[in-house]
Amino acid sequence: MQDQYGRTIDYIRISVTDRCNLRCVYCMPEEGIQPVDHDEILTFDEILRLCRIFVSLGIHKVKLTGGEPLVRRGLTQLIRGIRDIPGITSVTMTTNGILLKEQLPQLYAAGIQGINVSLDTRKEQQFADITRRSGLSHALEGIEEGLRYPNIRMKINCVPLAGINDDQWVDLAGMAEEKPLDVRFIEMMPIGLGRAYPGEKQEMIFAALQKAYGAAEMADGSFGNGPSTYVQFPGFVGKVGFISAISHKFCSGCNRVRLTSEGELKPCLQYAGGLQVRDLLRGNASDEILKKSIEETIYKKPKSHHFNEKEEPGFEQKEMSRIGG
Ligand code: 5AD
Ligand code: SF4
Repeated sequence: MQDQYGRTIDYIRISVTDRCNLRCVYCMPEEGIQPVDHDEILTFDEILRLCRIFVSLGIHKVKLTGGEPLVRRGLTQLIRGIRDIPGITSVTMTTNGILLKEQLPQLYAAGIQGINVSLDTRKEQQFADITRRSGLSHALEGIEEGLRYPNIRMKINCVPLAGINDDQWVDLAGMAEEKPLDVRFIEMMPIGLGRAYPGEKQEMIFAALQKAYGAAEMADGSFGNGPSTYVQFPGFVGKVGFISAISHKFCSGCNRVRLTSEGELKPCLQYAGGLQVRDLLRGNASDEILKKSIEETIYKKPKSHHFNEKEEPGFEQKEMSRIGG
């Protein structure tokens, strides 16, 4: 469907849990967040019902996110269920990779088409410092395992943290030299704890990468679901991408909405007060009412975020782990 500004909305990010087995400093406090009660989280049946409605509105690409989606029991059933909905063209997921290796066979069997692994460093101590947990080797093994499935498109997502993982950007981008995967640098967004962590300009990172790997060419065409700008380094198998929501705002081409694990439909990452779909679902709303409310909410999607401006009352205060990134 199109929103009031003529943008085609065909992609939804669905957070399936607010829980996570890591505690990345820019995302979660050490003690974790007050976990949401199980009853507050949408059931798979509820998510599947919503997906059928989303498809009827032209939203045919789904990304499952968290928290960490692989900590939600039975996730593969949900993946299979979504894949089976006529009209769905793409089901992908994000993960921190910790549980990936052991779950890959089921994920593959369920029909997952793409996996984005969040990886901010390949150095053991840095990994422990950033995530406050161990497990780097699991994440790395998960990535290697994923590469064994030609039908699963693998991507690495790194959030550059100035003064923290600077020495890893070149190394992480280098993963795309030999491996059939894309490495993307995701600019920190001032949401939740992320506000305290300055990012790095994509131009700076790009310059460092060109120094290491030679002059890159712009890779045209769109790969995946959205706003990444991709470049191709000479001799690289995969591409390197930049997703810079603040410094290179892409709101005018935004194609997505979000569903939180607690069932709030969010037309824009920055604004609070989306549609409480869960209340409608549990208040026995008909498919027709659901569809109409969802359509109205998406139609009114804000024109753009205002992250560069001063904080306003309507801005989202939830942590990223509850929204799904
Ligand atoms: N800005 C940008 N990305 C973030 N992530 C978590 N918090 C933020 C933030 N404030 C990323 C994680 C992971 C993905 C799910 O979201 O690093 O890659
Ligand atoms: Fe977990 Fe991802 Fe948040 Fe890290 S960024 S704590 S892996 S949800």
